[in-house]
Amino acid sequence: MARLNDNYLKLKAGYLFPEISRRVNAFCEASPEGKARLIRCGIGDVTEPLPPVAIAALRGAAEELGSRATFRGYGPEQGYPFLREAIAHGDYQARGVEVHASEIFVSDGSKCDCGNILDILGPDNRTAIPDPVYPVYADTNVMAGRTGAMTDSGACEGLFYLEGNAANGFVPPPPAGEKLDVAYLCFPNNPTGAVATRAQLQAWVDYALANDTLLLFDAAYEAYVQDPALPRSIYEIPGARGCAIEFRSFSKNGGFTGVRCAFTVVPAGLTAAAADGSRVPLHGLWGRRMSTKFNGVSYVVQRAAEALYTEAGRAQTAALVRHYMDNAAILRQALGQAGLTVFGGENAPYVWASTPGGVPSWDFFDRMLREANVVITPGAGFGRAGEGWFRVSAFNSRENVLEVAKRIAELRP
Ligand code: MLT
Repeated sequence: MARLNDNYLKLKAGYLFPEISRRVNAFCEASPEGKARLIRCGIGDVTEPLPPVAIAALRGAAEELGSRATFRGYGPEQGYPFLREAIAHGDYQARGVEVHASEIFVSDGSKCDCGNILDILGPDNRTAIPDPVYPVYADTNVMAGRTGAMTDSGACEGLFYLEGNAANGFVPPPPAGEKLDVAYLCFPNNPTGAVATRAQLQAWVDYALANDTLLLFDAAYEAYVQDPALPRSIYEIPGARGCAIEFRSFSKNGGFTGVRCAFTVVPAGLTAAAADGSRVPLHGLWGRRMSTKFNGVSYVVQRAAEALYTEAGRAQTAALVRHYMDNAAILRQALGQAGLTVFGGENAPYVWASTPGGVPSWDFFDRMLREANVVITPGAGFGRAGEGWFRVSAFNSRENVLEVAKRIAELRP
């Protein structure tokens, strides 16, 4: 008898975005007029074409594969040196941050990396997850059997929640008097768009060093940080190399959501405790995991990612980011003018707003779908503390965003 992984049965029935798709599809079937007007500001998926440098690099690399002299089969599991060097230099060293090419592991997505990292961590860690946050952290812990049951309110027994709210600006501080083994942090935050200041991140790093906590820092949206005083990498914070792993992605800066390329940084000196109490470097374990379960990102895609670091590539990705940030400003203004409390959208491509009159966020989702024919993401999908809030994604065409702003203004009170 084949037994299934019972942990999957603890999960809420659907992952957030498939549940949104289910409701949207049902609405479109029932209302052809609504379907024709539908604008999707739900999932944070890019809409604008790939930067021309990436297209040229994809073409060039494909040509190379067409010739015996330049053909390539399996690449290094950790990524080609040309990309690891470009990342280490372009994203870190050029900004005065210590990260070496050998510490970078190229992958096909941050979602995968955030889930896969549990492979190298023990089953009994006391793990903290921000609330609200990207649902992948909690769900992958459930799948890996690191939690108890999921309660009706959507909380997982066994996880420690770091509550973000309007009072703390959706940047939860390290918990006083609590000892955590692992803590996920996500800045710029998905879904709230909040960004921790240098002092707030330093407090987390100090806490982690004092409590032997491993920080899992998701920086997938770092390219959207506009304020030069805000940190874009955890490694800008003194001490972080001794307590943090960082996840980054080309999805949101280079528009690679469909191309697939990301990377994880595991500093050489970062260790965790083995059962016998000895300290073991996580770098070697992650390398072992990657070479056993992964065969690397395709050569053509890595060449495309490398192209983003050229001068032209930087200008083109900056233009993409500008486009989405200008959208975010339009959405922020529209939601504010509608009398809602608004966070995010200034250093992140997500705008986070209170539901009118505090109605439950799935109810407001349904209302926006029916009345405005706009897809948003209900805050409750990101955790209990997201109830009463919703997220609007700025990843869209300008035309659509202006139309969404108009429809928000027209919503009946
Ligand atoms: C989101 O909408 O939260 C993102 O698309 C999630 C992701 O990048 O996987």
